[in-house]
Formats: sequence, structure tokens, C-alpha cells
Amino acid sequence: MKKEKKLDYLLELINDLNEVKDIDLLLEKILFKARLFFNADAGSIYLKDRDRLVFKCAQNDTLQKRLKKGEKLIYKRFSIPIDSNSIAGYVAEKSIKDKSEWVLNIKDVYKLKDTPYCFNPEFDKKAGYKTRSMLVVPMINKKNEVVGILQLINAKDERGNTISFSRSDEVYILHFAKAAALALERAQMTRNLVLRMISMAAMRDPEETAEHVNRVGAYSVEIFERWAKKKGMDEEEIDKKKDVLKIAAMVHDIGKVGISDTILKKPGKLTKQEFETIKTHTFLGARLFYNGDSEFDKAAIDVTLNHHERWDGNGYPGHVDPLTGKPLPGFELPDGRARPKKGEEIPIFGRIVAVADVYDALSSARSYKEPWPEEKILQEIERCSGKQFDPEVVEAFFSCHSVIRAIKKNYS
Ligand code: C2E
Ligand code: SIN
Ligand code: SIN
Ligand code: FE
Ligand code: FE
Repeated sequence: MKKEKKLDYLLELINDLNEVKDIDLLLEKILFKARLFFNADAGSIYLKDRDRLVFKCAQNDTLQKRLKKGEKLIYKRFSIPIDSNSIAGYVAEKSIKDKSEWVLNIKDVYKLKDTPYCFNPEFDKKAGYKTRSMLVVPMINKKNEVVGILQLINAKDERGNTISFSRSDEVYILHFAKAAALALERAQMTRNLVLRMISMAAMRDPEETAEHVNRVGAYSVEIFERWAKKKGMDEEEIDKKKDVLKIAAMVHDIGKVGISDTILKKPGKLTKQEFETIKTHTFLGARLFYNGDSEFDKAAIDVTLNHHERWDGNGYPGHVDPLTGKPLPGFELPDGRARPKKGEEIPIFGRIVAVADVYDALSSARSYKEPWPEEKILQEIERCSGKQFDPEVVEAFFSCHSVIRAIKKNYS
């Protein structure tokens, strides 16, 4: 490719990074696009957290191809110190010391001689993978702080042979890393805002911890991906929607901040009247997003308002105006309640978070119940298909159940 063409292509690739709001999805996207541009078989990203690098995501085409269709690589969370015992650690250490960006371009990690850093072959051994070439760059923000490390592994030529990264790659990846650092900082701001909202809610309702919120977000995204693929939605559309759904699912119960402690923290069964009060957390939550008109605000309304509707039309709050909680014109039942939504009247994000939320609620201890064993939860979800839940969403849930279980383990 010609030089100018190549730069255009790079700019095109990094152009929409700033639209992504969720950090985990942004990291996946950064890594994917970097691998696409530099033709790398694999790669990983670490983010700096105080004096350590936290492993955040990894992609590996070779290992992915060994899996069955639809399966995903699952990585353990870990962190490493910022020192020369690892290549990523060394690049971070040096960038912090020199207060400047640079690139490490290694031809073959198994033939390192007299280098101030060393390669750890542990991962290769475990995974049955052979790392050779590596391109490693720090992601540095506007304040000249290292926010993370981007590591690309095994450049490929057109025929798929492993080769080294080139000298021009070193220049391009500096641009790329800068754009990535910027996008990360923006996503971090959004995340902090949402986390502040969530921790406010968690102060009120310690049973529903940050982990519950993270898990429901992560489950929802997995279920959505399966559901959308089956529907034939295109990849780009899926990516965009996943992003807003992730954060929207995390705030599904944010309306509980409006409910009094005596009810929210009650150790036993709720009275009918108390449960009526709990039900208001749906539209109280939706209200918070009513003034906004971003994709995210719309998704957050869909989720908060609809995650307790039921497929068979026996859920709540029904067709209400979130601002008043009163039935919308034409949807008032004789007893004054709003007619519940039913089937596809319930927005898809609501139908998905309903399943994710119940799976997690049953998995966890609550002031009013013990956690259930996995087997019993799956039976319950199956039993509720077509009643409480959209059968197609339940199907999507079961098709990614192994990933969901792995997430549950990771976040507990
Ligand atoms: P939560 O504890 O997060 O429960 C979320 C949802 O999980 C429940 O929404 C319900 O749809 C589902 N769920 C719980 N147990 C079962 C079950 O055995 N089978 C099935 N299929 N689904 C189940 P729901 O009922 O609308 O409750 C909303 C929130 O109200 C609960 O959130 C919890 O905070 C509160 N709540 C509900 N029942 C009680 C109770 O008896 N005592 C107390 N203290 N709080 C309750
Ligand atoms: C956003 O940036 O749209 C999310 C912030 C929020 O409204 O919680
Ligand atoms: C909660 O603690 O009630 C959950 C917080 C949230 O979903 O925003
Ligand atoms: Fe809820
Ligand atoms: Fe919940």
C-alpha cells in the first residue's frame, strides 16, 4: 500500500474509537483494529493501575481457530509489576522514566540476547502457541502519563507466514496508540460518571453490589450478541448496540435510589404494599435519562423501564409515562393500573436484561433468599421461557451459557 493511502486507512480505522463509551468494548475494538492494520495474529492490552499493569484483553486468531464455532477464548485476570521481568512491564517502566513514547520492535522473542528485559514463555507453554515477533507501545495521554500498553504479536505476510514488524509499523503504531489513549480517557470519564451513579445506588442497597451490576452488564452483552447474530444483524450494528447496552444494563436498578431503606433492606418477605413501592424503581430509573437523547439515554430508558415486564404480559410497570408513573392514554385498566407490556411490545434490551438480571439474582444471596445451585437456575430459566421470558432470548442465553458461567466465576 502507498504511504498516503496507508495513513488514510489508519485514520479511517481510528476514526470511530471515540464513539465507544464502554471501556471493555473499546479495548477489544482498539486491539482488533490494531491487529487488522498491522496484520498481527495476536495481541493484548494492559492498563496501568497504580504500580501494576492489569491484563485487560487479548485476541489470538490461531487459538480462536482451534475452538468450535461460536466459542470464545476465555482469559484469566491477572496483573504484572512494572519492571523488566516482562516485555510489557519493561516498555511501561521505560516510558514512565523517560516521560516519552517509544516502540519496542522484537524479531523473535526466543532469541533475545543481552536485552534489559526478558520474555516469559509461560503463556505460550500453557496455550500451545508460538510467539515470535512483537510490537509493543505505551498508550500515553495528554498529560504524558502512561495509561496502558498495547502489544501486538506475530505479524503475518499475505500467505499467513509469521514475519517481523517493519520499521514503518513503528511510526504508524505511535499514531495509533495516541488515538487509543485519547479514546480511553473519554470512555473512562463516562464510566466514572456511571460508576458514581451506581455506587450511590449501592450505598442504599448493599445486597446489589458493584459485582452484580458488572455481571448483569456482561451477561446482557453476550446474550444480545447471540440474539442479534441469529437475527442477521450486521457486525457493525451489533458492536454499536453492545456498547450502549453494556452500560444501560449496568444501571438497570438505578431507580432503587428512590426507594426507602426500610423496604429495600427488609430481611424477609415484602408486603403487597411494599412491593408496589419497589415496582416504582422502574420508571424512577427511566426518569433519570429522560432529558437526554443520545443512543445511550434511549437504551437506558428501555432497560430501566422494561426489565420487569414479562413476555406473557404479567409484568410491570406497563405502559406508563415515566414522569408520572401513570398509565398512558388508552392503556388504563379498570382497576387504574397500566396495562403491562407483552411480547414484542417490550423493547429487546428490556427482554434481555430481564433474563440476565434473574440469572444473577438467583445466583446470589439476597436479604430474602439463599443463592440457588446452577442446575436449578437453568431449569427455572427454561421453565419460564415463553412465560416470564422471550423464548428467543432464552435460546440465546443457553447458546452462550459457558461464557456466562466463566463471567460469573471471574466476577465473584
Ligand atoms: P432482585 O432480588 O434483584 O430480583 C430480581 C428479579 O429476579 C425479581 O424481580 C424476579 O423477577 C426474579 N426472581 C427472583 N426470584 C425468582 C424465582 O424464584 N423465579 C423466577 N423466575 N424469578 C425470580 P421482582 O420479583 O420484580 O423483584 C424486584 C426486586 O424487589 C428484587 O430484586 C428485590 O430487590 C425486591 N424484592 C422482591 N421480592 C422481595 C422479598 O420478598 N423481600 C425483599 N426484601 N425484597 C424483595
Ligand atoms: C453518557 O455519557 O451518555 C452517560 C452518562 C450518563 O448519563 O450517565
Ligand atoms: C443497586 O444497587 O440497586 C443497583 C444499582 C444499579 O443497577 O444502578
Ligand atoms: Fe429491577
Ligand atoms: Fe437487579
